[in-house]
Formats: sequence, structure tokens, C-alpha cells
Amino acid sequence: MVADRLNDAAAGGATMCLPTGSTPRQAYAHLAAHGDLSGSTVFLLDEFVLPDDSPARCDSMLHRDLLNRMTHPPKRLETWDTNAPDLAAECARMEDAVNGVLDVAVLGIGTNGHLGLNEPGSPVASRSRVVELHQSTQAASTTYGSGPIPELGVTFGLADIMDASTVWLLATGTHKAAIIADALTGPIGIAIPASVLQDHPQLEVFLDPEAASRL
Ligand code: GLP
Repeated sequence: MVADRLNDAAAGGATMCLPTGSTPRQAYAHLAAHGDLSGSTVFLLDEFVLPDDSPARCDSMLHRDLLNRMTHPPKRLETWDTNAPDLAAECARMEDAVNGVLDVAVLGIGTNGHLGLNEPGSPVASRSRVVELHQSTQAASTTYGSGPIPELGVTFGLADIMDASTVWLLATGTHKAAIIADALTGPIGIAIPASVLQDHPQLEVFLDPEAASRL
């Protein structure tokens, strides 16, 4: 379903941000085999500050899980240059590029409720910036590939996500059931960044039965 929706959005010329990690992998495999993103502009949602050749980097994952396997990749792709001498300036460049243009923000969710790399405590008004990673995010990163463990990340902010016309939140697996229930049915607050999505006028949530099991 997610692959088909992404394909339809791209056919309509959508500008989207895409997440990486384990959650979208199955959708990306389907999209790579059957889809066409050539009408779309894609921004990478976030990135770990890791060496370029690190398999755990989000751009490595996006290429490995989707782009390298596609016949029709996006017409434009924007990723984060974490080798830039001034990371704050690199975040400002991405902010300038994305500001207000996202038709669809596609998101995963961390077990601590993070969106992109907006960890708990991130301001609702946050924009693209450098962030320190929580321990659970660092632990999750080790499952993406071998190499050094990231301490920092760069990410679009919660305000960038909330500015998107439509937000799609994706979650799979039993380990996401508790945070999905808290984020979607609990109080709204920055202790659980994903809870702010309750205020988005066009939120669509895509869950497998396991991730939905506590709703
Ligand atoms: C990671 C990624 C996010 C992702 C989220 C969930 O830290 N940087 O883009 O959406 O956390 O990851 P996963 O799908 O592997 O659980």
C-alpha cells in the first residue's frame, strides 16, 4: 500500500521527504521493483554524522534499499553533506531547499518517539539542525550496518514536518506498539515528538498488525 501511494504521489509530481531504517524497507523493495519516482523530488529526512562509506548512513540505506534498484529514480534528490566544513550551514542549505515545499513527509518513528532525528525534548518550532543522538537511537543505528556509532545527526525539524501538506507515519513490529499507542492516543507534548502529529490536519498512519496491537 505504501509503495503504491508513493508511486501515485510521484506520478503527480510530488516533493517528498523519505525516511530510512528498517520500517520502509519492504515498501521500498516493492517500489523499486514496480514503481516510478521520476516525477518526484526527494529529500532525505535525516542523516547520521558518519564517514561517507558507512553502511549505516541514511543515504547509503536509501541507495541500497531503493534508488540503486530502481529503473526510474527521482528527478531530483537532496541529501545531507555531513562532510561540510560547517554543518550548521549545511542544515541551513537544506532548510532553504525544503522550506514549505513538501507535499508529503514520510516518516518512521523511533522507539523513544523520535521523528527523523528529532529526539524527545525537540521544540515544536525546530527546523533543520545538528542534534545529539539518544542512546536508543545510537543502538538502533548499529543494526543498519557495521562501523562507528554516530553521536550526532542532522535532521529536518518538527516544524518542517508539520509544514508538509500531508504526513504519512509508518511503523512495523511489536517493538513499536507501545510508542505508537502513546504517540497517537496519549497527551501531546515534546516528551514524545511523534505526538505532535495529532495536531497535523492531514496525518495518515500506516501500521502492520503488530505495531497497531496496542491501539
Ligand atoms: C532512525 C532514522 C529515522 C527512522 C527511525 C526509525 O533513527 N534516522 O529516519 O525513521 O529512526 O527507524 P527504524 O525504521 O529502523 O525503526
